[in-house]
Amino acid sequence: MSELVPLLESAHARRLPLAARLSAEGTNAWRLFHGGAEGRPGLTLDRYGPLVLAQTFREPLEEADVEALRAFAAARYPDTTAFAWNHRGPTQHAGVADETDHVAKERGVEFLVRARHRGQDPWLFLDLREARRRFAALAEGKSVLNLFAYTCGAGIAAAAAGAREVWCVDFAGSALDVGRQNAEKNRIDPERVRFLREDCLPVLRQLAGFPVKGRASAREFTRFDARRFDLVFLDPPAWAKSPFGAVDVVRDYASLFKPALLLLEPGGVLCATNHAPEVPLAEWTAGLQRAAEKAGRPLTSLETHGPDEDFPAFDGAPPLKVAWCRVA
Ligand SMILES: C[S@@+](CC[C@H](N)C(=O)[O-])C[C@H]1O[C@@H](n2cnc3c(N)ncnc32)[C@H](O)[C@@H]1O
Repeated sequence: MSELVPLLESAHARRLPLAARLSAEGTNAWRLFHGGAEGRPGLTLDRYGPLVLAQTFREPLEEADVEALRAFAAARYPDTTAFAWNHRGPTQHAGVADETDHVAKERGVEFLVRARHRGQDPWLFLDLREARRRFAALAEGKSVLNLFAYTCGAGIAAAAAGAREVWCVDFAGSALDVGRQNAEKNRIDPERVRFLREDCLPVLRQLAGFPVKGRASAREFTRFDARRFDLVFLDPPAWAKSPFGAVDVVRDYASLFKPALLLLEPGGVLCATNHAPEVPLAEWTAGLQRAAEKAGRPLTSLETHGPDEDFPAFDGAPPLKVAWCRVA
């Protein structure tokens, strides 16, 4: 028998209270097994509605482990019907392919998910569920800016919760296409959501009323007038390069945070995330407070949280940190 079986069963038992809460709110997507924190570094198992997706980030699975994962999914989650395994480790391995579109639900909102597509990441990041939940709770009647939107999970959650106007910005057109399909699936009025295939750096600076910086300033970029939003979701990758500069959440979070804060309406809220495991929560939030003071827009409150319990961090410090920043 695969040594994975008792680990999977313990993970399942730990999640029973969470699974009951999620099912009650109309959510059928959560992490079933979370790597090293649950005894097997480099292996995750997620359910997205009917799909169970294993991912390996180090060595590929042995055949007995694949069978143990399949059997576990079938026994414990009998409402799932598809199993896939993607290997994302240093060695090449085909895994178990599934290229069908499946539908996962969060609080009744439908999100398309495909195990294997051109990119590597699943179309919905499950560790952001609690952030989407809180964002949606604030969204009714509000104007919303979703930066580094990827497949627009936060923007769609806000639109489905009644946001008046939502802008989703990302330079990946294929990710925005998934967002567009999700908007249609949830019958969101297309007039309320804009999908902008743009570099976030010049968009953010212009919306905040700053000139576009850097060597690229002479190049073509879409012009935007300065304007304000009630709610901003700022979820940048840990590091990325663009013709307009770099995103670097370890060394320079402030260059994203400051314009995002300045473009908030009075009383507005910025949800900022930081996925870099090497940045401690206290250090990051102290930096946010300092940047807000320096920008002349001190925070009236700052609340933090990590992911739901399906992403356990046994050292108490999950890599994903979420900060809710309110301004006067
Ligand atoms: C970690 S994902 C963000 C996840 C997303 N916020 C969500 O809720 O699912 C990072 C995204 O940032 C985008 N990205 C990175 N640098 C960018 C830039 N300078 N301008 C626009 N998009 C960028 C990538 O295309 C990718 O979709």
